[in-house]
Amino acid sequence: MKSSPLALVVLALALASRLNPPAEAAEIYQDAAQPVENRVEDLLSRLTLEEKIAVIHADSKFTTAAIPHLGIPRRWLDDGPHGVREDIGPDTWNSAGRTDDFSTAMPAGICLAATWNPDLGFREGEAIGQEARARGKDIMLGPGVNILRTPLCGRNFEYLGEDPWLSGVMCTGYIRGEQSQDISSCVKHFALNNQEFERGTINVEVDERALREIYLPAFQAAVQQGGVWSVMGAYNQLRGQHCCENDYLLNKILKEEWGFKGLVMSDWDGAHDTRECALNGLDLEMGTEKKYEDYYLSQPYLKLLKAGELPVAGLDEKVRRNLRVMFATHVFDAGRKTGSLNTAAHQAVARRVAEEGIVLLKNDNGTLPLDVAKLKTIAVIGENATRLHAHGGDSSGIKAFYEINPLAGIVSRVGKNVNVIYSEGYAKDGSADLAERAVAAAKAADVVIYLGGLNHDKGFDCEGADRKDMKLPYGQDGLIHKIVAANPKTIVVLEGTMVEMDAWLGKVPALLQAWYPGMEGGNALAGVLFGDVNPSGKLPATFPKRLADSPAHALGDAPGNYPGTNGTVTYAEGLLVGYRWYDTKHIEPQFPFGFGLSYTTFEYANLKLIPGDDTNALVTAQFEIKNAGNRAGAEVAQLYIHEQNPALPRPEKELKGFKKVFLQPGETRTVSIPLNRSAFSYYDPARKSWVAQPDEFEIEAGGSSGDIRLHDQFTLAGK
Ligand code: GLC
Repeated sequence: MKSSPLALVVLALALASRLNPPAEAAEIYQDAAQPVENRVEDLLSRLTLEEKIAVIHADSKFTTAAIPHLGIPRRWLDDGPHGVREDIGPDTWNSAGRTDDFSTAMPAGICLAATWNPDLGFREGEAIGQEARARGKDIMLGPGVNILRTPLCGRNFEYLGEDPWLSGVMCTGYIRGEQSQDISSCVKHFALNNQEFERGTINVEVDERALREIYLPAFQAAVQQGGVWSVMGAYNQLRGQHCCENDYLLNKILKEEWGFKGLVMSDWDGAHDTRECALNGLDLEMGTEKKYEDYYLSQPYLKLLKAGELPVAGLDEKVRRNLRVMFATHVFDAGRKTGSLNTAAHQAVARRVAEEGIVLLKNDNGTLPLDVAKLKTIAVIGENATRLHAHGGDSSGIKAFYEINPLAGIVSRVGKNVNVIYSEGYAKDGSADLAERAVAAAKAADVVIYLGGLNHDKGFDCEGADRKDMKLPYGQDGLIHKIVAANPKTIVVLEGTMVEMDAWLGKVPALLQAWYPGMEGGNALAGVLFGDVNPSGKLPATFPKRLADSPAHALGDAPGNYPGTNGTVTYAEGLLVGYRWYDTKHIEPQFPFGFGLSYTTFEYANLKLIPGDDTNALVTAQFEIKNAGNRAGAEVAQLYIHEQNPALPRPEKELKGFKKVFLQPGETRTVSIPLNRSAFSYYDPARKSWVAQPDEFEIEAGGSSGDIRLHDQFTLAGK
């Protein structure tokens, strides 16, 4: 009997189904189409008590255990804010000795902040996220956003400066960029980790307004604007309780008030007590020299759970948060981003951040930019001209794929027609004849480029210790004097964080702050020196004339003030951190917050305050900026507010907005900066809430906190 076509089709389908049985229906947690919370609950329900415990603590320096039968992979965490750290031995802090873990070394965090360019923050985060995925990482341990309270903190270089608004905007861009690559950022160190002195134990006493208005906002921005998936608790204590197990910080503020749904991890060895960790909001314990089963959230916790002394619901909540971050970063999903490593595109981002982060602090008589065509001999002097920094600083150090030091950048830029001579000038071991040889080099040159400042040696810009003072080390003050005497056309370039410079500043015609400019730093610096790049960096922190002027030091050794006494440091200056202090106390700094020169000039005009409503902007400050010079450049227009009759004391001014505008010669651009009601508010401890009270406000626009060009009065009405 002849089969009908239809019968043949049915037969074919039956055969095909036997050859290719339908994929086993994916479990809910394996189904990327399912809502994340459904996947979390489904996977949670499949874990035994022991497996749940395995999820919430480390099983090596930078990993947590896999649970193979459920397809939970080993989770890889890695430092840090400036790029993907080299792999270290599973149970030591030594390098694992691999040769395939070079990465792109971005400039230090403070240099990124000095760009005042959130888009660049996004691009840097995106690049690091791509490199993290290429290196097989799941959580990157950065950005660091602790406020620069004292110039001496050894980790100021890693962070984003003294102002909460700038730090918040810059870290938001970075986090959004990094997390766009299917990994989690981890904003750190939450909170009040503003010094390295006794960092593991120091107890911080700070008033509620300073906590809320200065030290927490960048973290709040990371959570609520950046959508950060992980937070790292700080080593120190706040009001007598370690931050990694601090109920007020982690449960009350971070999770309940701010609505944080991700995971809180400890800093390494930052956990101290099982019950406190269990009850006060720690979700993942990381650490160092200890058997992993002895971690507080490992067997000790399991024991209390089994004894019924702690609720399993608390464990479930911790596990939920860990699983939620895994699902949010597509750990289980096909098509998870695989990233890219050491690409020209990433190196270009490193260079751009350095170019836009270098700050021109002084430029008398147009000393800069230098015209190569008019130079025969350049003397490059200073140990920092050849020193490589990317690998230093401890946990934020990067094994850079390459690093262009300033001397190499200058030599490459000026080409064969200019003779570059180099003289070390100073050295850590204080070699005696270096100065004389440097002076001879200076005499023989048309121009001197001096590369000095600090480095990542312990006791300068390095994790684990603070600086002893703000002085230039290795006798550099005296050396600069000698060099300038030998050749007045000496350009000083400082690497590192702020130093006292009153001793010689008046004698040098030009000064650049280059921070730690990353793997492309030498090229970026040469670009600025020879005019390929018009500097647009602005200081993310005040440069005081002397340490004693700084708020953390001006109160002398008032009980408990920096660095603290008997294990406690009291933030006696309260809200008056950075420019808030210098402006309110009328103390003239060396260079104010937000300051930075350009090779062109900018004019501000026509400030208008355009009323809005509470849905978006209560008022928009609109003004014009004109590039009045003959070369393209970028200006960071800053917007500050000053309340006339505050119910509670407020600083002289507070940064509440900024915009970086790139302008061609002669170009005028209208800038609009919206201010919502929260921009006018302060935290009222009595009402435990933010309050924007009806009052008169000065709204001020300018190129730095010390250079207000326009201002107008705004009446804030009640709601
Ligand atoms: C360090 C640092 C932290 C880093 C961690 C892992 O102690 O405080 O910033 O991410 O340990 O290296």
